[in-house]
Amino acid sequence: MNYLQISLIVYFVFRGSSTAFTITEINEPPLLIKMHPNQHRTITFDDARDAILQSFNQSKCCEVTSLQVQFETQEFRIIQHQDFKESDFQLDGVLNFRQFVSMIHIKDGMLAITSDSIAYILKFNYDRVFVHDFEEKGQQFARIRLKADLQTIAPSLVAKNEMPQLLFAPSTNLVFLLFSDSAQVFSMQQMEQQADSLDVYQINDWRRRKQRGLTKEIDGLVFSVVGRDGLDVYKIVQKDLKFLKNLKFDTLGLNYSIDIADFAILKHGTKENLYSMFLLDRNCGLFLIDVFRDQSISFGLRSWISEQSGGISVDTRNGRNVFMAYQSLNHYYVLEFNVDLDNGNSFIIRIKQINHRVIDLDATEDFVIVQGVNQHMILFANGYDYVMNHHQDQIFKHLGLRDFAFFNQSYKLDDMDDITKKYYYDDFFFGITAQSAFLTRFQIDPIKLKCLYSQSDVGQTFTYTLQYNSTLDNIQDLVVRHTQIVNVEVVKTYFYEEEQYLIFFIVVLLGLILIVGLGCACQWYLNNKREYQILVEYVQKSARDKGIKQEDQTSVFQQKNKSFLQ
Ligand SMILES: *[C@@H]1O[C@H](CO)[C@@H](O)[C@H](O)[C@H]1NC(C)=O
Ligand SMILES: *[C@@H]1O[C@H](CO)[C@@H](O)[C@H](O)[C@H]1NC(C)=O
Ligand SMILES: *[C@@H]1O[C@H](CO)[C@@H](O)[C@H](O)[C@H]1NC(C)=O
Ligand SMILES: *[C@@H]1O[C@H](CO)[C@@H](O)[C@H](O)[C@H]1NC(C)=O
Repeated sequence: MNYLQISLIVYFVFRGSSTAFTITEINEPPLLIKMHPNQHRTITFDDARDAILQSFNQSKCCEVTSLQVQFETQEFRIIQHQDFKESDFQLDGVLNFRQFVSMIHIKDGMLAITSDSIAYILKFNYDRVFVHDFEEKGQQFARIRLKADLQTIAPSLVAKNEMPQLLFAPSTNLVFLLFSDSAQVFSMQQMEQQADSLDVYQINDWRRRKQRGLTKEIDGLVFSVVGRDGLDVYKIVQKDLKFLKNLKFDTLGLNYSIDIADFAILKHGTKENLYSMFLLDRNCGLFLIDVFRDQSISFGLRSWISEQSGGISVDTRNGRNVFMAYQSLNHYYVLEFNVDLDNGNSFIIRIKQINHRVIDLDATEDFVIVQGVNQHMILFANGYDYVMNHHQDQIFKHLGLRDFAFFNQSYKLDDMDDITKKYYYDDFFFGITAQSAFLTRFQIDPIKLKCLYSQSDVGQTFTYTLQYNSTLDNIQDLVVRHTQIVNVEVVKTYFYEEEQYLIFFIVVLLGLILIVGLGCACQWYLNNKREYQILVEYVQKSARDKGIKQEDQTSVFQQKNKSFLQ
């Protein structure tokens, strides 16, 4: 068979520093699908990123579905109507109403805080969380473990008129409650033990700033965006934060004023004590910065990735596909870059206009969630834009989503190991809306060929050409384009599915009858055998009673045998 033909076409595309990529064309052997009318047939193409299907016969009974993420959300209302006071309704302003304003992922759950400084500790019910049928809708993915009033210790948020940030340090089990001008810390463990009093410490070294943005912890270092003041770095020392350094553009040898919008940081894969940071400035664009950790901390500019202004958010999970959202006039866009962390080279994979306001970006290995207010978009990470030419970007709605986090495996207790072992850490995300906690499980739904034909198509064969693209995970510059002829033969069927069940039932019934019959026969045989035995014993017994007669009988028998042997 000479079905498999491979041809190499090398496209040279000029993209900044890197210049070429290869498309390999493969003609796959034809696929024959025999199917019954009125029955769905689905064939999955796991590696495909994009597919198109063309029919030779103008038949629309088969179609390909695009690569998408399947979501299932469970919501759990926490703040009930009776939690509001009459006076709440008379005030206005975001922070006056009792509502969730911030949350963080803690060990086995989340800590969420309301505008009136009530903290809720929610713990996952893992057995509910990991039911992966994408159908069951339970409410109890988590339970409220503790409700604590922090009003006495935390300044009233209304008074502050600022949304606080929570920060969790998993290594020390500490929670930081952060404001632009003050910060406090308490122990998660002590809080969970429901001690009568919670020890809350003021962070004296916390720098007062006019603005405060994202604050993140990595390996005991705390990075905090402070807008026009740049980026502050602290170190966790026992139950305290020690200020280490402030980053401004002059630190990097650039003569610009800074206005940081967001950043993303990850460990450099190979080098110890080295981190790679993507720093997004509102005016100057996106920078790749090396962060060295020695006694203190130092920064080095590796490359200036984009000069695009209007930056809103940046995120990456793998360090290679880097997403940046920005606003230009009244439009929102997401840029995807391919970045090489080792040499700092980068190029734009694509520019995507987004039809809703973009608040934040959150990346997984495979896709990024472009977070809006009620409407969010999924963009798949890719090597090249054109690989997914025919792909329709997926929109999903989640009303009032306020804050969320991806589940991190290492944030669970050790004895939960067996339950979660087989799942990826980013199999779900969870967070808060104004009054609820929610959990959204997701899974990538591969490209599928789906067919359904009717009775009138019986006996006919329909021909399609299927083309799909796949990329190889490890080889960056290779796209494989598959072409496959698909013949769908609609075959006559005598039984419909329901009738098949009936036949199955009848066969099983007949089988049962047969088994019962055999059983009876066996019983009958065994009974007869026993009666025979009884009879023999009876005969022998009565023979013994008659003494001599038996010997005669025996001799007669022996004689008979003898004559037989002769
Ligand atoms: C696959 O990739 C090629 C090359 O980038 C592109 O032309 C094509 O539209 C993509 N999609 C399909 C289904 O072939
Ligand atoms: C569909 O097209 C193929 C190829 O042209 C042909 O062999 C086949 O008979 C057609 N089937 C129908 C139902 O028209
Ligand atoms: C920085 O730029 C400003 C104006 O753009 C200029 O006046 C100043 O001399 C520059 N400083 C240095 C050290 O280059
Ligand atoms: C999960 O938490 C660990 C410990 O803090 C951290 O090293 C790791 O990067 C986190 N993973 C993700 C995907 O955030």
